[in-house]
Amino acid sequence: MTEFLDIHLASDAERCRAHENCHDVWSLGLPLAEHVARREDSALHRRARWIVGCLNGQVVAALASHPLRVKLHGRSLPGIGIASVHTLNAFRGQGIAQRLIRWAESYEQLQGARFSALFCDIEPRYYARLGYILCPSHIGTAAAAPCEVDSGFSLRVVGANEVYGHRIPRLAEIYDSDHGRRALAIERTADYWEHLAERKPTAENFWLNSEGGDECGYLCARTADRGLVIEDHAVRDGAPTLRTALLRLAIDLAHERGLSQVMGWLPAEPPAEELFTLSPRKTEITMVKSLDMAITLDDEAIRSTDWWQEIDHV
Ligand SMILES: CC(C)(COP(=O)(O)OP(=O)(O)OC[C@H]1O[C@@H](n2cnc3c(N)ncnc32)[C@H](O)[C@@H]1OP(=O)(O)O)[C@@H](O)C(=O)NCCC(=O)NCCS
Repeated sequence: MTEFLDIHLASDAERCRAHENCHDVWSLGLPLAEHVARREDSALHRRARWIVGCLNGQVVAALASHPLRVKLHGRSLPGIGIASVHTLNAFRGQGIAQRLIRWAESYEQLQGARFSALFCDIEPRYYARLGYILCPSHIGTAAAAPCEVDSGFSLRVVGANEVYGHRIPRLAEIYDSDHGRRALAIERTADYWEHLAERKPTAENFWLNSEGGDECGYLCARTADRGLVIEDHAVRDGAPTLRTALLRLAIDLAHERGLSQVMGWLPAEPPAEELFTLSPRKTEITMVKSLDMAITLDDEAIRSTDWWQEIDHV
């Protein structure tokens, strides 16, 4: 490439050009103007820092850098989630996306980021060459079926009067006692919980209640393609009996609603693998990278990312 590739933070107009450019891949079937409006309005996309690569003033490539804080063996690390990496078709194969990613990482390092993650939709070798580590990333599916055993637990719809702001501390406590304690976990601050609620306004939320009425887990799900999709779940202290009860109740809920199956990001570990058929995800494959030479992502940390929840996908 002989021309100068100008990489910088996107202006508002450039961000809109970037949204237009990726209509070929992420339109969700919407016409161009609606596609741009949807992305401009999206809580997820609004939270990101947008970086563009321009040739002669034309936006030819872009990516989004989302704030994504993690806990590595209990140590809180600021980081980023790289997403929406896109180069205009006519400019592909010249190393532009690679340069954008490297620029984004350097820029974010200066802002304090020490960790980067992404969810790969292409051949992972592309990002492996940039130092990203391929993580176990599974999806589980189970046919909807009635619950044959009464575990004594039930799912209770989170009531309309349970204002999200009020239930965040209870959700956060359960999440922290389950996923939050793993070797490499997404850290959910109060602000981030607020953002998740905004990001998924149509998701349904349930408490896992014990017979005594205690909230000992939660499930966040949506309906898609005649299936129930688990977006997020956690049980108190990660207790396997609670997780078994919650997952069985999700399978039962799908049956009650006349849906055909339940699916979601679930780890290839018990009890999920006893109740669901687990297979490696073909897209949205988790990849991670340390942005700090003093921070090593060890095997235990990499393995634990199989527990990441779909709701955290950027
Ligand atoms: C993936 C993409 C961003 C690469 O942009 P680019 O500017 O051409 O990237 P680079 O020039 O840095 O790299 C080109 C390399 O990417 C590879 N590549 C492109 N698409 C790929 C894919 N789907 N799977 C694997 N590798 C791919 C090319 O084969 C080429 O490899 P080479 O260097 O060995 O020749 C671009 O193809 C694109 O916009 N695709 C559509 C959106 C998309 O899928 N984004 C990725 C989401 S995770």
